[in-house]
Amino acid sequence: PLYTIVDKETCIACGACGASAPDIFDYDDEGLSFCQLDKNQGIEAVPDNMEDDVLDAYEGCPTDSIKLSKTSFNGNPLKDE
Ligand code: F3S
Repeated sequence: PLYTIVDKETCIACGACGASAPDIFDYDDEGLSFCQLDKNQGIEAVPDNMEDDVLDAYEGCPTDSIKLSKTSFNGNPLKDE
């Protein structure tokens, strides 16, 4: 499985991720991205048919704010760092 979460501390609201994966990433009132699967907790696996979109978003984020993991983030985008 693939899990994703946005580090909102480093997101600069550029908007690229939602263009790549509109079913996964949405924006808050400040334009900061979050994973809409689970209110940005990184606990719900990305549906198989959306993994490619999420990989595109990961590669396209200018601030490396999209985090990916094979295991749950449990709400912590920096768990692997
Ligand atoms: Fe933010 Fe990166 Fe998306 S800067 S809006 S997480 S592409």
